[in-house]
Amino acid sequence: MKVFTSDVIIIGSGIAGLMAAELLSFDKNVILITKSDVVSSNSIMAQGGIAAVVDKEDDWRDHFLDTIRAGCYYNCEDVTELLVRQGAKMIEKLKEIGVQFDKGKDGKYLLGQEGAHLKRRILHAGGDATGKELITKLISRVKQNVTIHDHMDAIDLIIENGRCNGVICIDEDQHYVQYFAPHVVLATGGAGQLYSVTSNDMSITGDGMALAYRAGARLADMEFVQFHPTMLVKNGKGAGLVSEAVRGEGGRLITEGGNLLMEGKHELGDLAPRDVVAREIYEKAANHQKVYLDIRPIKDFKQKFPSVTSLCTKAGIKLEEGLIPIAPGAHFVMGGVETTSFGKTTVEGLYAVGEVANTGVHGANRLASNSLLEGVVFANELARAIIHSDESIMKTNIKPIAIMDKKYPQPLPTQAEVQAVMSKYVGIVRTKDNLVKALKWFEKYQEFIQSNRRYILSGEQHTVRNMLTVGYLMTASALCRKESRGSHFRLDYPLASNRWLNQTVCCSISKQQP
Ligand code: SIN
Repeated sequence: MKVFTSDVIIIGSGIAGLMAAELLSFDKNVILITKSDVVSSNSIMAQGGIAAVVDKEDDWRDHFLDTIRAGCYYNCEDVTELLVRQGAKMIEKLKEIGVQFDKGKDGKYLLGQEGAHLKRRILHAGGDATGKELITKLISRVKQNVTIHDHMDAIDLIIENGRCNGVICIDEDQHYVQYFAPHVVLATGGAGQLYSVTSNDMSITGDGMALAYRAGARLADMEFVQFHPTMLVKNGKGAGLVSEAVRGEGGRLITEGGNLLMEGKHELGDLAPRDVVAREIYEKAANHQKVYLDIRPIKDFKQKFPSVTSLCTKAGIKLEEGLIPIAPGAHFVMGGVETTSFGKTTVEGLYAVGEVANTGVHGANRLASNSLLEGVVFANELARAIIHSDESIMKTNIKPIAIMDKKYPQPLPTQAEVQAVMSKYVGIVRTKDNLVKALKWFEKYQEFIQSNRRYILSGEQHTVRNMLTVGYLMTASALCRKESRGSHFRLDYPLASNRWLNQTVCCSISKQQP
């Protein structure tokens, strides 16, 4: 079996993983492991941009207030303050790396607007190809100083005496590979692929959350899953994201009958928080009505939104007609592996950064374009903490782990079956009855969910195990939270409750508790 050692192992190649690798690479020996190829991530598909206070008319306090209002006041305030105050500094860092944000003829940034932002503060690149610009620039930097192992599926963390020592992977040929390091960083993104309609890349199946859970780390807020209101749909299936920035430029949501969907529904209309807009569209769909994004008010649409234009062209949508068929899709998990602001989890030696982590910044509903910002700000905090950590007290025990060769005795569900259960019972609108149905289904796989290296599994079976784990945690947490707040909406408890404002639903391998 192949064994590698380094100072830091980073699992994941989205914005958080790449930024952490870039910042650590000057001081540490870093190996970056990624499940598919290094360019496949949610970050590379990011359209709208990155929120930051760079305009003289703006203030970090305004960005802070927009973030916690969208998060339904469930955000951790000091970490949120850190996030928004670091914005301008991190934009400068990205510029040093070579990232070019769009500017107008006057040399000033062209700032976009998205849902629940009261000011224009979204920096973008290539119109709506922000993720592509950020990720390609970061990859070209990281390739110079960091060892990248792609097509490497992380299957279990190595824990010894309560400390994370490394990670076991399987490669494309289904061979085991073991990595040892005193610092193991999860940067695996969220879990959008648990749902049938999602904006997420194929590789985003909750892996880091499941790995951390099996390793004994604490997860929190798993009931909060954001649905983006405007996924392009074709034949009932998601066909890519239509950025909220389209509504920021004047796009309007209209019903089949031509009525403005958001009129009278929220003071911010089409730019209301995502959970509010997604529920309105969901209700129409439940009554078999279609909803469209009307782009006719937008001048120079194709120049402003080349990525959306290309998605529509591929899907056969005639943009000249000005109507894009849309539906909500799973987009972002606010919950995740509980961490400090510098990425430390409840397991020594294990860190998490980006969407997989739960620092508390997003509350019950993430503000648009705060996720790329989260990736760079907390990668910076994490890198500083690791660089300044006292490694003399950390002993990495490089002792290859024996892998069992027992086959799992029962048939396993497919990814599509997990997606069907989650979409039907744990979606935008939830009820106790539906959540109980889902929980019973997941409980059939309880022993499998918690098994650590007990069975020999294929790459696909590992993915299904991770999806079952995260689906189970989301369902159990949603059942636990008896209120509606942000992205978590319970028809049987339709209001937010003060009793729940300061309650966190936590999950760890031994117990799920409120
Ligand atoms: C979008 O462009 O609408 C997505 C941006 C985000 O999720 O922050």
